[in-house]
Amino acid sequence: MQVITQKLSTESSTDAFPILGTDHIEFYVGNAKQAAHFYQTAFGFELIAYKGPETGCKDYCSYVLQQDKIRFILSSSFRKDHEISRHVDLHGDGVKVLALWVEDAKKSFQTAVDRGAEIAFEPTVYNDSFGEVIMAGIKTYGETIHTIVERKNYKGPFLPGFISKSSPLVKQEIGLKYVDHCVGNVELGLMNKWVKFYQDVLGFKLLITFDDKDISTKYTALMSKVVSNGNGYIKFPINEPAKGLKKSQIDEYLEFYNGAGVQHIAIATDNIIDTVSKLRANGIDFLYVPEIYYEDVMDRVHNIDEDLDTLKKLNILIDRDEEGYLLQIFTKPLQDRPTVFFEIIQRKGAKSFGKGNFKALFEAIEREQEIRGNL
Ligand code: FE2
Repeated sequence: MQVITQKLSTESSTDAFPILGTDHIEFYVGNAKQAAHFYQTAFGFELIAYKGPETGCKDYCSYVLQQDKIRFILSSSFRKDHEISRHVDLHGDGVKVLALWVEDAKKSFQTAVDRGAEIAFEPTVYNDSFGEVIMAGIKTYGETIHTIVERKNYKGPFLPGFISKSSPLVKQEIGLKYVDHCVGNVELGLMNKWVKFYQDVLGFKLLITFDDKDISTKYTALMSKVVSNGNGYIKFPINEPAKGLKKSQIDEYLEFYNGAGVQHIAIATDNIIDTVSKLRANGIDFLYVPEIYYEDVMDRVHNIDEDLDTLKKLNILIDRDEEGYLLQIFTKPLQDRPTVFFEIIQRKGAKSFGKGNFKALFEAIEREQEIRGNL
C-alpha cells in the first residue's frame, strides 16, 4: 500500500471544484414503494418527500428518504420504455446518481466540462413556490452520473416538483449520520482512467493506492485507489479486478450489474455496536467473519474502547492506522443481484479504509460467492 501524504485544502479559492457535501444518492429500482418501506423499516430512514402521478409526474415516481445528513431518492417507472425501466432491466436495482452539493452549479459544471467532463445534462433551473434549484449533470463510470446541485435559493422539502410526504411508520433511531465514502467498481484496466478523471476534471487528490498484493486472497485479487475532493468531504475509492485463480468479487459485480457502477456506500455512525445490533434485529444480513479473525486482531489494533466479545458477537471488524482506529462491517448485497451493499463505519481517529481487514473480508465474500456458484 502506498499512502500519499497531502494537505487537504480547506480554502475554496485553491479548490478547482469546490463541493459542500453529498447532496443525495438516487437509486433506480424496480419498485420504489416497496424499497422505500425497506429502507425505512430496516435502516431507520424517514420519508420526507415524494413525486409521482399525484403531483403531475406521469411516468415515474420518486420517494425521498432522510436520516441525519443522508438523503436517498428511490425512483421507479411504470412505463416499459422509460429510462429508469431500461436501467433497472439492465443493471437491477442500483445507484444512478451521486449528487454533489455546490455553491454555484453553472460555474462548477463549466469548470468540469472545460476540464474534459462528458455532459449528462446541461445546467437547468427548476422552480416552484419555495424558490429555485439549479442542477447539471456529468457522466462518471458506467451509467452513473454526478448531478451538481445548487440549492442556496431554495426552501422547499427537497427539490422543486417534490411535495412533503411523511409516513405513519414510527422512526427508529438507528444512528446513521453521513456518507463516509462511495466505492465504484470499474472494468479491468480502467481504474487509472477513472482516477485520472477525478484528478483532472474534478481536481480530486489521490489519497491511497492498494495494489493486488495488499488486497488478495488465495483465489482472488483486486486493486483500488482512493480519491478525495479538496476539503476531504467526498471520498471515492475506485476498484478494478486483478487476476486471480478464480473470479474476483469485482468480476462478479461487473457480470451481474452488466458493467461498472457503485459497489458500496459507507455510512458513518457514532455507535456501531448500537447501530449494528438494531440493524441485525431488523433482519439485515451482514458478511460473516470467521472466529479466527478475532484471535489475533488485538495484536494488530491494541487497545480499543469497545468490548471485543461484543464486536465478535456482532461480526464487527477493527483496523488501526497511525491516527487511530476504525470499526466497520459490510452488509450482504441489498437486492437479489450480488451488486450494491452498505458498509457501516465508525471512525475513532483513523482516516483509512480498513486495509488490515481486506483479507479477512474478502475471504468472507468469497465464501458467499461460492455459495452462489459464482467463484
Ligand atoms: Fe468501504
